[in-house]
Amino acid sequence: MELIKNYVQQNKERFINELIDLLKIPSVSADSAYSQDVLNTADKVKEFLEKAGCDKVEICETPGYPIVYGEKIIDENLPTVLVYGHYDVQPADPIELWDSPPFEPVIKKTELHPDGAIFARGACDDKGQMFMHVKALELMMQTNTLPCNVKFMIEGEEEVGSASLAWFVAKNQQKLKNDVILISDTGMISNTQPSITTGLRGLSYVEVEVTGPNRDLHSGLYGGAVANPINILTNMIASLHDENNHITIPGFYDKVEELSQEERDEMGKRPFSLDDYKKALDIHDIHGEAGYTTNERNSIRPTLDVNGIWGGYTGEGAKTVIPSKAFAKISMRLVPNQDWEEITELFKKHFESIAPASVKVVVKPHHGGQGYVTPIDSIGYQAASKAYTDTFGVTPIPVRSGGSIPIVALFEKELQSKTIMMGFGLDSDAIHSPNEHYGIFNYLKGIETIPLFYKYFTEMSK
Ligand code: BES
Ligand code: MN
Ligand code: MN
Repeated sequence: MELIKNYVQQNKERFINELIDLLKIPSVSADSAYSQDVLNTADKVKEFLEKAGCDKVEICETPGYPIVYGEKIIDENLPTVLVYGHYDVQPADPIELWDSPPFEPVIKKTELHPDGAIFARGACDDKGQMFMHVKALELMMQTNTLPCNVKFMIEGEEEVGSASLAWFVAKNQQKLKNDVILISDTGMISNTQPSITTGLRGLSYVEVEVTGPNRDLHSGLYGGAVANPINILTNMIASLHDENNHITIPGFYDKVEELSQEERDEMGKRPFSLDDYKKALDIHDIHGEAGYTTNERNSIRPTLDVNGIWGGYTGEGAKTVIPSKAFAKISMRLVPNQDWEEITELFKKHFESIAPASVKVVVKPHHGGQGYVTPIDSIGYQAASKAYTDTFGVTPIPVRSGGSIPIVALFEKELQSKTIMMGFGLDSDAIHSPNEHYGIFNYLKGIETIPLFYKYFTEMSK
């Protein structure tokens, strides 16, 4: 413990500066304008893994962005931890809402981060959290405390659906063989109450296109007599929830696993203040499915949300027009047992069926993935729990998260191993939003906690 703490104290300035270097590269996977930056980031990650002490580091080409693979095998008979993370980031838009440029990292204090936080796109999701693992390896190498084997697999397409990673994992099962998968790409309750993520939601993402007349029309000459695709689309979307905020797609809930009252009571014990929640978001009231609490609504229940909607005239001033087309992007967060491909099919069938004859509807599936739940009686969970207890002085609470990392369910299928999600971010760190940041406290605590996971996991595996 002391050895670890001292190493972190002595090297923290450099740890922070190295992360800042990584954050300066705009590795936005969704936008091809940044493709060279994404590739440069992969090279940088490779360099850092080599410097940290990996024996073999490779840039593995894929049909998309490369996967950086590295390993340090000390003894075939010892357990192997496979670390997964991503070096790509979300687009920074809307850029005008950032207080400082998204790829020029700055350190500022906030109410929840009195020791300062690094503000930049990817600071928390996931460069900052992924890099804790690189620095934890360096620490274990330099202090001669690496107790087992480690493999790193860092991808560049997580934010766009991990298509190449799925391909890579299927082709490299032997290379990726491991005893546990370790990921820091989630969050925890607070800096005084750590938690370990035991569940992720699945996802089905679709785009819909509604077409009315074959061209934009004068809204006076034609208005009232032909279907306006925006009016129709918004009506169709509104009908997807009933008055209790249940989703109306037939069959949508068929496979949803209902938790027992005991499990729900257990979940309800985590500290949570509805007042603080509303205050943080500046809302007067919450909204959601009848019969469920806020924490249940955003973790164990499926959802349907419009992520974007467009069509018609949105420029300056007014233009009187009935547009020919209207579009929306819609995501459904799913819970374990719901199959994302099946849900996508149900959505498509239903959405087409509710369209009036006055419009044509096209549903284009984007990407998706299954949900995931990890048991808490595994060696991996127990080792993580002990590690946090040592560094925070508080036992972490298991929490099911509402976010998705679709590749995790695939890891279990292809590599037959469980994933432990040791996230150190906070919900208020604004991932995917303007002013994303990551606490210096969280970053350094992560680097301290990870080596203890390795230690306890190796001891418990004997
Ligand atoms: N790291 C997040 C997921 C996450 C964040 C899970 C916080 C739990 C807590 C990941 O990078 C992400 O954003 N995933 C996407 C899905 C992906 C297919 C684009 C998501 O959840 O929207
Ligand atoms: Mn992430
Ligand atoms: Mn993300």
